[in-house]
Amino acid sequence: MKVKVSRKAHFNAAHRLYRKDWEDTKNTEVFGKCNNPNFHGHNYEMIVSVTGEIDPETGFVMDMKVLKDLIKEEIEDYLDHKNLNIEVEEFKTLNPTAENIAVVIWKRLRPNVQDTHELEVVLFETPRNYVTFSG
Ligand code: NI
Repeated sequence: MKVKVSRKAHFNAAHRLYRKDWEDTKNTEVFGKCNNPNFHGHNYEMIVSVTGEIDPETGFVMDMKVLKDLIKEEIEDYLDHKNLNIEVEEFKTLNPTAENIAVVIWKRLRPNVQDTHELEVVLFETPRNYVTFSG
């Protein structure tokens, strides 16, 4: 009997979407306001979900305190109040789109979640725009 448990979390970060190998006009055309050379911020909201069998001893799929601390250490401390392009290693060579941020979050959490459990990351860049990655 598999159950999905989820935890919401939040971070603020700045980014700029562009490709160095593209002309300014093409960057503006493709990335619009997100290509602002002075960067801009988003209030990112995420939902991290772990799916697995209920441990018959504890009644938990995963201890939520452990999940909470994991998200804080691996994601919030790593991304909150950062300029993603400049300060976060992964995005020095990767456009910090919501899609790529969700994948980076997933990759940082995956090794810390029990192998037998599934991991899903939903990342909201705005209240209306969100992406989902589950490996
Ligand atoms: Ni943006």
